[in-house]
Amino acid sequence: MVILAIETSCDDTCVAILKSKIQKPKTEFPFMETKVKKRTKSSSPSKSFEILSNVVSSQVEIHKKWGGVYPSLAKREHQRNLPIVLKTVLKEAKLALSDSRRVDLIAVTVGPGLEPCLWVGVNFAIELAKKLKVPLIPANHIEAHILANFVGGNSKFQITNYKKFLPAVCLVVSGGHTQLILMQGIGKYRILGETRDDAAGECFDKTARILGLGYPGGPAIAQQAAQWKSQIPNSKFQICLPRPMIYQKNYDFSFSGLKTAVLYDFKSRPPKIRKSKEYIGAIAAEAQQAVIDVLIKKTLRAAKDFKAKAIILGGGVAANEELRKQFKAKIKKDYNLPTAPYFYIPDSKFCTDNAVMTAITGYYHRKKAQRENLERIEAKANLRLE
Ligand code: KG4
Ligand code: ZN
Repeated sequence: MVILAIETSCDDTCVAILKSKIQKPKTEFPFMETKVKKRTKSSSPSKSFEILSNVVSSQVEIHKKWGGVYPSLAKREHQRNLPIVLKTVLKEAKLALSDSRRVDLIAVTVGPGLEPCLWVGVNFAIELAKKLKVPLIPANHIEAHILANFVGGNSKFQITNYKKFLPAVCLVVSGGHTQLILMQGIGKYRILGETRDDAAGECFDKTARILGLGYPGGPAIAQQAAQWKSQIPNSKFQICLPRPMIYQKNYDFSFSGLKTAVLYDFKSRPPKIRKSKEYIGAIAAEAQQAVIDVLIKKTLRAAKDFKAKAIILGGGVAANEELRKQFKAKIKKDYNLPTAPYFYIPDSKFCTDNAVMTAITGYYHRKKAQRENLERIEAKANLRLE
């Protein structure tokens, strides 16, 4: 089965083509597995999907000067880019739409995301599905970030029996969302908690804007923090930012106060200091650590409370090297064999938006195909996962 997927929920125009070789998807679950501790009797992974092509056309350069995504501009760029990206992807996958070996299924992100952007992808997918006379599957973007964990390294998916990993606690951290989700199966999710204001990625983006580091903020903050850590171990600035809601006995987050604390600290410094590499590095490292501390603490608490067999990360912020490293180390430290949950994070390039994860989501929900009802597929900014 060949799946073509389209993802335009934010500022990246993404199209991917995936070939599935799975015989019995109901009883199997693919993971890119990062084991914190070695387990016995793990079933051996097999190659069940192949990425024929995966293109992400970034609009970063266009949105840079606004310090964030400008929705109407993003919509215009998606409209311009989609036909070009589709052409590239088909060429890479050595597929022609007129071919007999054509696409079997189309998956498209319907939400959550920026509604004007989502509609471009949805309308494009509807037209394509009509033209090719193939089913169209609506995909939830948050679920797709979770299922991005199923992308194996080396462009192959790996399969194991998924039931032994459930229930799993999933942390989806992106520019638009920060959610802790209890996963009891594919399509069976319960949102345990979420941010009450800014998402973690949004906090990084706004912090970077305050510090003059550009967009997207997450990678810029991470880079400054890493340089500062390696070069200036002892800071003279004594910056201490808040860890919002870290001790509250719920699974919610709040990051807008953290960004405001960065702003106050920044404004309290003399202009010369504000521009110094040393200060920027120190405050970037502290802001990054504050976000990491909260994310780890709340996720591990949820994992313990719900006796999770796996902790699964997804979303652009999960590409953060420090977060990945510290999560792994903390799980190793906190748990003893054999009760430690498995820990999964996608390859960094599958943490940020891509259409491979959309294709996988479409694959697992392929029974929902609305062959006769294409017009009923709608884009929704606030589509819930539950
Ligand atoms: O998942 P994503 O590509 O798009 C949304 O669904 O929002 O996430 C984008 C977010 C941005 O806020 C970006 O700053 C953040 O992910 N991000 C990172 C890193 N790479 C991207 N944050 C921290 N560290 C990174 N390495
Ligand atoms: Zn995303």
